[in-house]
Amino acid sequence: MAIDQDFFKNLKAVAEHNDHFVWGPGKEGDAAKDENVKADYEAKGEKIEPLGIHGTFVAVDYDDCIADGACLPACPVAVFEWDKNTGLSGQDQRQDYTDKSDPIRESDCIWCMACVTVCPTEAIKVDESLVAVHKTTQL
Ligand code: F3S
Ligand code: F3S
Ligand code: ZN
Repeated sequence: MAIDQDFFKNLKAVAEHNDHFVWGPGKEGDAAKDENVKADYEAKGEKIEPLGIHGTFVAVDYDDCIADGACLPACPVAVFEWDKNTGLSGQDQRQDYTDKSDPIRESDCIWCMACVTVCPTEAIKVDESLVAVHKTTQL
């Protein structure tokens, strides 16, 4: 269903993770409907729960991320790593389809928009004007 373009108004910062904010509550997004994602949650014996959005000016909606992986190698400055396979950023280096692309180096973004363009579920919003929101957000 794509990331909410106004998530920073509609959601609240609920946590910090790898130097970025997490915005919640989450939603039932594209991940909950994706066959690969559903199969891998089931294989782990875990339920799909709303996860929210990681990052503010480079924001990944975890509930829409289906672990496609195209965004990770697309970024020229390596903003993203796999959430569960820490340190890895190859398209197919996800732990499994329950994994998510985490914007661990959010502040390195050079606004090229490659990640936004390649994501099949439109799970990523990048907006330089939201640096100001990041700076004034408090938990
Ligand atoms: Fe990388 Fe996306 Fe920024 S590809 S440079 S995080 S716009
Ligand atoms: Fe996820 Fe889209 Fe990247 S589905 S792994 S945010 S390309
Ligand atoms: Zn994160």
